[in-house]
Amino acid sequence: MKIQVEQGSIEASTADTIIVNLFEGVSTPGGATGAVDAALGGAISDLIAGGDLRGKAGEVAVLYPRGAIAARRVLVVGLGQADSFDVEGIRRASAAAVKRARDLNARHVATIVHGAGIGGQDAAAAAQATVEGALLATYRYDAPKRGEPPQAIETLTVVERDAGRLEAVREGAALAEAIAAGVTVARDLVNLPPNVATPTHLAAQARAIAEAHGLGVTVGDRAWAAERDMGAFLAVAQGAGEPPAFIVLEHNAARTDLPTVVLVGKGITFDTGGISIKPSASMGDMKSDMGGAAAVLGAMEVVGRLGLPLRVIGITPCTENMPDAAAYRPADVITASNGKTIEIISTDAEGRLLLADALVYASRFQPAAVIDLATLTGACVVALGEGVAAGIFCNDDGLRDRLLAAADATYERLWPLPLYDDYRRKIDSQVADMKNSGGRSGGVGTSAVFLREFTDYPWAHLDIAGMALSEKAGDYAPAGGTGFGVRLLVEYLRRL
Ligand code: BES
Ligand code: MN
Ligand code: ZN
Repeated sequence: MKIQVEQGSIEASTADTIIVNLFEGVSTPGGATGAVDAALGGAISDLIAGGDLRGKAGEVAVLYPRGAIAARRVLVVGLGQADSFDVEGIRRASAAAVKRARDLNARHVATIVHGAGIGGQDAAAAAQATVEGALLATYRYDAPKRGEPPQAIETLTVVERDAGRLEAVREGAALAEAIAAGVTVARDLVNLPPNVATPTHLAAQARAIAEAHGLGVTVGDRAWAAERDMGAFLAVAQGAGEPPAFIVLEHNAARTDLPTVVLVGKGITFDTGGISIKPSASMGDMKSDMGGAAAVLGAMEVVGRLGLPLRVIGITPCTENMPDAAAYRPADVITASNGKTIEIISTDAEGRLLLADALVYASRFQPAAVIDLATLTGACVVALGEGVAAGIFCNDDGLRDRLLAAADATYERLWPLPLYDDYRRKIDSQVADMKNSGGRSGGVGTSAVFLREFTDYPWAHLDIAGMALSEKAGDYAPAGGTGFGVRLLVEYLRRL
């Protein structure tokens, strides 16, 4: 879907489908909706008066102008209550309207900027949310299937009447396009089957991002990791048939004068559990165990596109976790790259092992902040719910506040969880510096304090288990890979 921004009046648009909106409880529409209503001889007011249109959030009414204006159809999308309206409401409204337009086989769609001017949303943020909602909602994973692919909308034109706001609308729309491209990278990687989205494939994706936007890229293989004593990463990779890849992307690599943020993403391209093998029911969901890596690669795509004035490093340690004759086993003791030893209790607690070496590696960039994203524990899903919120563990109040603010703005929700030392005692080992599992109770906390052992900088750990893959469609996402984390990370970085 191509995005355009034009100055003009929506009722004069030559698109086949135009989109306007309505707050709940409004009986006489004003603004652009009022102008369309007038052009249609009061048809929208009639729908409202007859009780057929209430302006409820997500509601979409379809009207046929039959020559009264150029467009073949008019969609009026409900915005819900004006007093509780925010950018998330804009994304959802735009998504609902554009999905309906697509389902009606619209080719050229024009929309007003939802929520601009009302409720204090600035024009750029409102335009960004309008375009984001449209692009994210119409995302499609193109699986290699036979048959005709469904029809798609060709152009979406954002029509702004006010010349004074045009520049801001253009900026917001361009930002949304960059962000949607990053979310698409992340969703595609999660949606691809695990025999395709291998560590080698993720490395190729990283190289493509680097090439497109002039980022530095390193792909470390087994030998590279061995030279760096990454015994924890290598232990997990030991049983993998697919070659592992320790991927490092660097934006503004040489600009050490700029604040440095390191993003780390867990890249288990398939988690069988290893020798501590998982039950077969729904094991296939573990193709999403590289959701953290996907989010980091997606965020780096956006960082590159926007040329953010920061030094941003993306690190994604990638491997399968497979049972094999060469696989690591429970009771093994391994040594991470900072010299700390780890007793393996469960080979299914593998994510923290690759993250350990990645977090140690992050330190060399002298970061102002390190943020890791990982589909790390089922316990986090039990605590916060599937698709509801990711857990955040953080050793720095300022960093936590900034991430929570970005979560609020993007509706990629985070809920703070504690780094109690009680959890650390649960992973004390008789034979090593720590165990890789503290058992069932407090499983999300023990995983976080385990990671803390490998950090020496302001750090946040986001447990995104249950957030990377969704069985159900969301307001602006089809079922499947969600791209969770990309919008959150970009919002956080843009605000620095
Ligand atoms: N990748 C899983 C966690 C997971 C569970 C992600 C559900 C997404 C949805 C992780 O590697 C894992 O297996 N964790 C174990 C840890 C345990 C062995 C200490 C878990 O949560 O059961
Ligand atoms: Mn596991
Ligand atoms: Zn895992």
